[in-house]
Amino acid sequence: MKGIILAGGNGSRLSPLTTCVSKQLLPVYDKPMIYYPLSTMMLAGIREILLISNPEHLGAFQKLLGNGSSWGMQIEYLPQSTPRGLADAFLIGEDFIQNQPCSLILGDNIFYGSGLVEKVQDAAKVVNGAFIFAYPVKDPQRFGIVEFDDKFNAISLEEKPQHPRSNYAIPGLYFYDSQVTQFAKQVKPSKRGEIEITDINRMYLEQGNLHVSVFGRGMAWLDAGTPESLLQAANFIQAVEDRQGFLISHPDEIAYRMKFIDEEQFKFNIQKTVNPSLKSYLLSLL
Ligand code: G1P
Repeated sequence: MKGIILAGGNGSRLSPLTTCVSKQLLPVYDKPMIYYPLSTMMLAGIREILLISNPEHLGAFQKLLGNGSSWGMQIEYLPQSTPRGLADAFLIGEDFIQNQPCSLILGDNIFYGSGLVEKVQDAAKVVNGAFIFAYPVKDPQRFGIVEFDDKFNAISLEEKPQHPRSNYAIPGLYFYDSQVTQFAKQVKPSKRGEIEITDINRMYLEQGNLHVSVFGRGMAWLDAGTPESLLQAANFIQAVEDRQGFLISHPDEIAYRMKFIDEEQFKFNIQKTVNPSLKSYLLSLL
């Protein structure tokens, strides 16, 4: 399974924070935002990543993440000149995907909670169909929505409906089989002029091949697209990290725990860590 991180968009709701800096590079407490979705991909066991962002920001992402080799990964980069919708990720990424199963995560989506690792690792095993998630929210009009029957089978999908049929939002984390690029090519622009991921999901639903797993109450799904939600996400991470003494979503730690890298490489990464408190945290994991 390959993975795409979509880190484009104008970040207009965060302007002027985003005038010079990509939204997905803004800090969420002690790390750049992009570390969180990257970590979710890593926890799913995905080691080949394509990062898509605006042409003017790609260099900064490359400086931060490199080619991924120090984490036992491969990270490639491609530009998206205008935000044409989430389904565009599979068109930009066609050569990267090479007709293999591929996942997508949005660069401002943060997932945290017990049970997450098992769920994403199960989803990453999908070879036939699509695997997405549902999460209860109080403002379903803002999201892609899934409706279930009484046996919790998905029966309909809608993108930002005025009158939602359920309060289950679809988070920005999707796992697809090798049909995804072909499906993306068939999507027509929506009323808001974007090629919608919800239309791809609907094609899988109509095929009888859409698996939806519900994230329960113990799961945190945060996005960080407004000043309020960015601050909330930072406060959440700070509260949990400070209480437990663990870092949430640090790629060095995850690469080591997931055995993407051996102890030697991990020690090398620690040596190169300039932040003294981060360095002693990573040393304590040895
Ligand atoms: C997008 C998707 C929507 C999904 C949401 C999750 O919305 O279109 O289906 O629920 O991400 O964050 P957008 O960020 O484009 O408003």
